[in-house]
Amino acid sequence: MAYVIGLLGYKGGVGKTTTAIHLAAALLKRGEVQVVDGDSNGSARLWAQGGNLPFPVRSLLQFRGADDGFVVVDSAARPSTAELTDLAEFCDLLIVPSNPEGMSLDALQQTVHRLEDLKIKHYRALLTMIPPAPSKKGIEARTYLIENNIPLFETGIRRTDAFLDASTQGSLVYEVKGSRVAKVAWLDFEALGTEVLAFLDSSPRKKS
Ligand SMILES: Nc1ncnc2c1ncn2[C@@H]1O[C@H](COP(=O)(O)OP(=O)(O)OP(=O)(O)O)[C@@H](O)[C@H]1O
Ligand SMILES: [Mg+2]
Repeated sequence: MAYVIGLLGYKGGVGKTTTAIHLAAALLKRGEVQVVDGDSNGSARLWAQGGNLPFPVRSLLQFRGADDGFVVVDSAARPSTAELTDLAEFCDLLIVPSNPEGMSLDALQQTVHRLEDLKIKHYRALLTMIPPAPSKKGIEARTYLIENNIPLFETGIRRTDAFLDASTQGSLVYEVKGSRVAKVAWLDFEALGTEVLAFLDSSPRKKS
């Protein structure tokens, strides 16, 4: 069976769809990948519309399961408890992205409390949209999460408009022309892919 990774969060606009698309691309070197767009706003499907992504993006209705490889599920913000439980049951790993803003970190903490209440342990927080140095917002947010015992990926995703350009073009960030940061930002997702694989390799498979 395939490994299933779900993006999840109680706040909108924190990078769920951007992470789903780029993590899928980073996992391609380890097997077949498909993205399932579980958000009725259809952002991931819109991203794929130009036909430039190297993996399929399917709606929940189009999804027929996968024998092997990886399935990355993008989900809508603010899931109900039933949706959260379903997603957790379906996924081998849940990723909860947050940017370093106080409001987003608050929403992340609420998400984590909901997960803990439901005895769901197979999740990791991911810091996204980290502003470049000399800003200390990224490191402050990381410290805050560690102090609050929230398990998080060592990798963080930097903030760059190249992600906006990538979604507008329907491409991946490394294909954005004329931006050196775009290439470096892709390395963030390669590093995240490595961490995700290590998590999956070390955890019991849910679906087999
Ligand atoms: N690392 C980043 N740096 C700069 N902008 C980013 C980054 N990641 C995402 N964005 C931009 O932030 C906005 C929200 O990102 P995205 O759509 O991935 O979030 P989301 O959590 O899926 O939102 P929604 O809850 O609406 O589905 C988009 O305009 C996207 O291009
Ligand atoms: Mg989205």
